[in-house]
Amino acid sequence: MDESEKKELLSVIDSGWFTEAKKTKEFEKMFAEFTGSRYACAITSGTAGLYLGLNALGIKQGDEVVVPDLTFVASPNSVQANNAKPVLIDIEPDTLNLDTNILERKITKKTKAIMTVNFNGRTTNMKILREIAQKNNLKLIEDAAHSLGSYYGKKHQGNFSDIGVFSFSTPKIITTGQGGMIVTNNKKLYERCMELKDFGRKIGAKKNMMSAFDHHIIGQNFKFTEFQAAVGISQMKKLEKRMKIKKRIFKIYQESLKNIQDIEFIETDLEKITPWMSDIILKNKNKKIKLINFLERKNIETRIFYPPIHKLKPYFTSNKKFPISSKISDKGLWLPSSSTLTDKELNYVCKEIKNFFEQ
Ligand SMILES: Cc1ncc(COP(=O)(O)O)c(C=O)c1O
Repeated sequence: MDESEKKELLSVIDSGWFTEAKKTKEFEKMFAEFTGSRYACAITSGTAGLYLGLNALGIKQGDEVVVPDLTFVASPNSVQANNAKPVLIDIEPDTLNLDTNILERKITKKTKAIMTVNFNGRTTNMKILREIAQKNNLKLIEDAAHSLGSYYGKKHQGNFSDIGVFSFSTPKIITTGQGGMIVTNNKKLYERCMELKDFGRKIGAKKNMMSAFDHHIIGQNFKFTEFQAAVGISQMKKLEKRMKIKKRIFKIYQESLKNIQDIEFIETDLEKITPWMSDIILKNKNKKIKLINFLERKNIETRIFYPPIHKLKPYFTSNKKFPISSKISDKGLWLPSSSTLTDKELNYVCKEIKNFFEQ
C-alpha cells in the first residue's frame, strides 16, 4: 500500500462515517463492473462470504455439500457453520479442482449444493459442472478466493455459479486487510445476502426510524467498513497492473526452472489465468522439504500447499479415497510471488533453486 490508500483512508476519517455506506457501495460497484457480475456484496471475509452464500442458498441442517479435498479449511468450515455436512471429493491432477468424473458418485438424496474451488485461478470444466448441477437440481457456489483477475472463456470467474465468493485477506492479489465479496447475477440471492449480513434487517429499513428493527429473517453482522472500502477502491485501481506482474513472475519461474527434472508446472493459460501465487509440483515430498529448508537458509520464504481436508483433525478419515489430493498436497509448493518482488530478487530465488538441484 502507498500514498493512495493513505489518502483514501484519511478521507473516511474526515467524513466521520465509518460503517458501510458510500465508499462500500463504490467499491461494490467497481468490483461488479470488473468481474462483470450483476451484483456484488462486500463482506468481512471470504469465509464469512462462503458461510453467508450457502445460507442464502438455503443450505441447512441435514444437507450435504460436495467440497474438494484440496482447499483451504474455510471451504468445508463454511458448510459446517450452516450445520450441513461437507462431503469431500478428490481432485483432477491437471486443474487441482474437484473431479467432475467422480462427482455424481458423491451425490445422495441429501446433497443440496456443490462448492467448487478455483485453485490458483484454474477451474474445472465449468460447462460439465453446471450440467451435473442442473441435472441433479443442485445449487452451485464458487469459492473464488484465488480467482480475482482470472477468466473462464470470456467471463470472469465467480460468475458460473449461483454465487461466487472472493477474498481480500492480506496475501491475495488485492487486500483490504481482511474482507471478501459475494457476487451473483440473481437479484433475490443478492438481496438475501445483503439482509443476512445486516442482522436480517430488510434492505433500506434503517432509513426509516420506525422500521430500523425490522428483522424479518435471522441474520448476523458481517458488514464491511468504510475503511476497508477505501483501501479496496485504491487496490482495485492497481489490479490490472498486478495481474500483469503475477503473470510475469509465473513466466519467469517457468522459463528459468524448465530444465529441472524434479520440478513440474501445472498447465496454466496465462491469457486467462492470473496465478496469485506461482506454484510448482516437486517429484517427491522429501525433496520438497529439503528444498524448503535450503531456501529458508537463503532467506527465501516458500509456502506449502494446503493439507488435504480429510487429514485435518475435524474432518479426519483414514480411508484412501483421495489419492490425487494427497499426492498433490505432499508435492506442491508456492514460491515467492509478491507483486513487489524485484527482478534481482526473482533471479536470486531462481538461482538458489537451481543451486539446490545441482548440488
Ligand atoms: C480457497 C480459499 N477459500 C477461502 C478462503 C478464506 O478467505 P478469508 O481468509 O478471506 O476468510 C481462502 C483464503 O484465505 C482460500 O484460499
